[in-house]
Parts: sequence; C-alpha cells; structure tokens
Amino acid sequence: MTTLSTARPSSSADWIAIEQATYFANRRPPMVIERGLGSRVWDVEGREYLDMIAGIAVVSLGHCSPVVQRALADQAAKLIQISNLFYSIPQLELGQLLIQHSPFDRVFFCNSGAEANEAALKLARKWGKTRKNGAFNIVTAEHAFHGRTLATVTATGKDAYMQPFAPLPPGFLHVPFNDMDALERITDATTAAVLLEPIQGESGVHPATQQYLRDVADFCKAKNLLFMLDEVQTGIGRLGTLFGFERYGVEPDVITLAKGLGGGVPIGAILAKEAVSVFEPGDHGSTFGGNPLMCAVGHAVVSYILENDVLGNVNRVGALLKQGLERMKAENPLIQTVRGDGLLLAFDLTADRAADVVRLGYDEGILLNATGPNTIRLAPPLTLSEAEAHEALDKIKRSLDRLDAPEVTRPAAG
Ligand SMILES: Cc1ncc(COP(=O)(O)O)c(C=O)c1O
Repeated sequence: MTTLSTARPSSSADWIAIEQATYFANRRPPMVIERGLGSRVWDVEGREYLDMIAGIAVVSLGHCSPVVQRALADQAAKLIQISNLFYSIPQLELGQLLIQHSPFDRVFFCNSGAEANEAALKLARKWGKTRKNGAFNIVTAEHAFHGRTLATVTATGKDAYMQPFAPLPPGFLHVPFNDMDALERITDATTAAVLLEPIQGESGVHPATQQYLRDVADFCKAKNLLFMLDEVQTGIGRLGTLFGFERYGVEPDVITLAKGLGGGVPIGAILAKEAVSVFEPGDHGSTFGGNPLMCAVGHAVVSYILENDVLGNVNRVGALLKQGLERMKAENPLIQTVRGDGLLLAFDLTADRAADVVRLGYDEGILLNATGPNTIRLAPPLTLSEAEAHEALDKIKRSLDRLDAPEVTRPAAG
C-alpha cells in the first residue's frame, strides 16, 4: 500500500506526485488545471491557457458557462437522480427538444460516447436478428474511433486498443474510409449495419467526402442496412450545424451523441428513426443514463445553441481559424495540410513534431492536442470569439517558430 502525505498540495508537482502514486498509468503534461472560464483555463501556479481542445470537444459553451452553472444549480435543488424506473421531466424535455430538431423519432440517454455507441451496436444487432434474417455484421471504417468498451474498441479497429483485451466480440468488419468499393465488396447477407463518423476526429480530423456519405446512405437503403453515424464528436454544433449529417445532406437511421451535448457534464444519447427502433422494454437500460441533472444541463446547452446563433459563430470563427491556418501553411513549410470543418480542425506537420509544438504551446499559453506524431487538432468551445481565434493563431505561430530555436532542437542532455 502507498503511504501518502495528508497535507494539501500547493503546486502542480505535488499534485502530480499523488497521481503517480495512485492512478492507473497515464500520460499527461506536467501542469494541473485548477479552474476555467470561457475559453481559458488556469493551472495551480496561476498560468493562463487559451483552451483550443475544450475537454476534447466537450465544453461547448466554454468553461463554467453561466448557462451550465444555472441549469446545474436549479436542477440540483430539485432532483438529481431517480433512475429510469420513473419518469423525470428534464429527460423528457431534452428528448423532445432533440427529436423536434432532428429527423429522428426515438431517443435513449446514457453517460458517454462509448455507451451511446454500445446502444447503437445493440440496436443494430437486434434489428438484424429480428428484421433481417439474423444479419449481425457491423461494418466500420479503418482509423475510426468509437470508444473504449470491448465492443466499441472492436468497432474502432485499432490494434493497439484491441489486442491487449482479446478475445474480442465477433461480428465487426473494417473497411478503408472514403472507399465505396470496399464497402460494397465486404457487404453480404450477414451485414446488418454501417457505422461511420462524418469526420474521423480522434485519428486526426479526416472528413468523409460529401460523395462518400451520400453513396453510403444510398447503398444502405438499397441493401437494407442500418446507416448509423457516430456524431459523438461532430454533433451538437461542432461543424456549424446542429448535427454533422446536415452538412452532408444525408439522413442516417441512427446517430449517437455525447461530448458537446452536456457542455461539460457526462451525457450520451442515441437517436433513431421509428422504423428501426426495435428496443423493447428491458432490452437496454442505465442507472444514471438520462438522469435529471445531466438532462437539465443538456437541455440548457442545446437551447442556448439554438437560440443564440452559436452555429453562426462556429461557421464564422471556424472559417477564420481555418483561413488563418491556411495562410500560416503558405508561409511556413512545416505545415503540410489543414483539414476540418466548423470548429473541428487539424493541421499536419511535415515532421513528427506535433508533441513538441503542443509542449511549446503550453509555454505560449495555449492548449492544443496532438492526435498523432505530426497532427494537431483544434476543437475549442463553440463560443470562441474572433479575437480569441486570432490569439490562438498567434500562439500557434509562435509555438511553430520556436520549434527551430536552438534550445528546442538541441538533443536532450544524457
Ligand atoms: C467519434 C467518437 N465516438 C466515441 C467516442 C467515445 O466517447 P467517450 O470517450 O465519451 O466514451 C469518442 C471520443 O473521443 C469519439 O470521438
């Protein structure tokens, strides 16, 4: 057993010592974030950072948004948890709001993106069993990310996430993303569903082409497959429309949501068309899923987004950021490509220096996210202002400029 001091730590280093003594292995930068407001956070030492990753595309209205605070406080004074044994008003209000603003008919709430996808996978399996002669295979894309439960890592298809936990559930097939021929080739009578992200976020913001998603939608209809989109990262405004699929002019049978839906609190959801909503009472459930506290916040967040031109802001500020990155690319040969839509953007470097840029960003007072050795992702609050976008571009430029400064390229001592 580890013996720990009982004195309250006063520095990032002291807190990190506790993490190292108590937490399952992890990899994090050496500062402890203590508070946030809007697009900014501060660490224990009081250093300020412009947050361009927002809890991984979660804090949609900014840190400690008054909208979220008020919904939490009001609901916490009324009812926090009741379970799905009973009706509760915030769950019904949030469900109604999502259905009113989407082409879907049915909703189920859970607590995270992985759980939302688990629900979608279960729905697809039951649909195949009951409506398509026992079809059970689910096709997903290479380099996708769908979560960390056993079924969702299998859907994700990344060896490093899967192999330590084998044996894995059967019935998952992977095809290259944006490759219609591959999807056609792999589909047979055993195929029940296709699950894709409109933009593959975790693998570095790789968008589906418009043509691909439209062809997948048509193919699913023609072959009687469920067309399911994982909108955990792209949903609730991140691409400048309430749902990412609206950007593509397609209508899936099922979508999953989480992240931005709660503006910072843990919530997930699955939405489905009536014709495919094969869950019956007892098929699926969750103790915390749809609890009044999280649903009250989700309702406040979605209402705020719809009523305050947050989507317009995403489009304006997202375009500004993307153009700024494109300009930087024209001037800086270190930037190879710029990708993304709305406020889900990424740029690739010509060298595997993304981790260095992120680290230098901390010194410049900006939180960035490396999704791979040479890729940096931006997923800031949807309320990021134009001034903050300019500030982010300046800080990214300074971080890139410092990359070639002698103190950075010098080999580490020892
Ligand atoms: C597209 C997508 N699906 C699912 C997940 C898993 O969500 P969670 O971490 O809330 O389980 C993520 C998380 O990054 C995601 O980006």
